[in-house]
Amino acid sequence: DSAIKKSMPLYGKKVMVTAGPTYEAIDPVRFIGNHSSGKMGFAIADELAKLGADVTLIAGPTAQKVVQNLKRIDVVSAQEMFEACTAVFSETDITVMCAAVADYRPKQVAKQKIKKQDSDLVLELEKTTDILASLGRSKKAHQILVGFALETNDEENYAKGKLEKKNLDLVVLNSLNDKGAGFKSDTNKITIFNRALEQTVFEMKSKTNVAKDICSAILKIAK
Ligand code: CTP
Ligand code: CA
Repeated sequence: DSAIKKSMPLYGKKVMVTAGPTYEAIDPVRFIGNHSSGKMGFAIADELAKLGADVTLIAGPTAQKVVQNLKRIDVVSAQEMFEACTAVFSETDITVMCAAVADYRPKQVAKQKIKKQDSDLVLELEKTTDILASLGRSKKAHQILVGFALETNDEENYAKGKLEKKNLDLVVLNSLNDKGAGFKSDTNKITIFNRALEQTVFEMKSKTNVAKDICSAILKIAK
């Protein structure tokens, strides 16, 4: 590699980022999903690549395109994302879990399209694996693990709770109460908590600039 590349702050670091929603099949034509656009995760992956990291982006169904040179793995369901993340994680130095993973999936996936009946339809749902919590349990001392917390109420307490429960180094709080923040928006407003539970509140910014702030917070704790 060139001297310029070698001088980049994350040169030689292996990084994993998840982005987008997951889709949980009901039958061959329907799924349960969410409004995640993937914009925030793709912006973070691009920014980390710009800092010289060797990035693997694990993406749920999304229209986003990567700009930087990085490895992209496309998945559909929470289970597929779990398997992809588990395969990559042990080799990584830094992991940022930005995906809006479905918490529940249909217990039964119908082989054929479910036909409309006169009666109402009840779907039984089962929990998906919490990917981030699972990675947190196997995390080694040198690894940095960053999670998100998407909240609508009692935001700070829920975010801190996730940092501790999932063994994170940073948690990025995304409050849906902030106008211009969240899923479809091109802007976002975040608060970051570190392990000492110190908080940094950021202004509303473009998702590209939010990604830069998140990367700066990571650089501060990366050796
Ligand atoms: N996450 C994950 N796997 C899941 C669910 C969530 O890896 N099955 C990750 C998300 O990528 C995010 C973090 O966990 O980094 C927090 O997600 P969030 O939905 O805010 O929290 P949950 O722990 O799922 O709790 P709840 O949805 O009830 O607030
Ligand atoms: Ca959730």
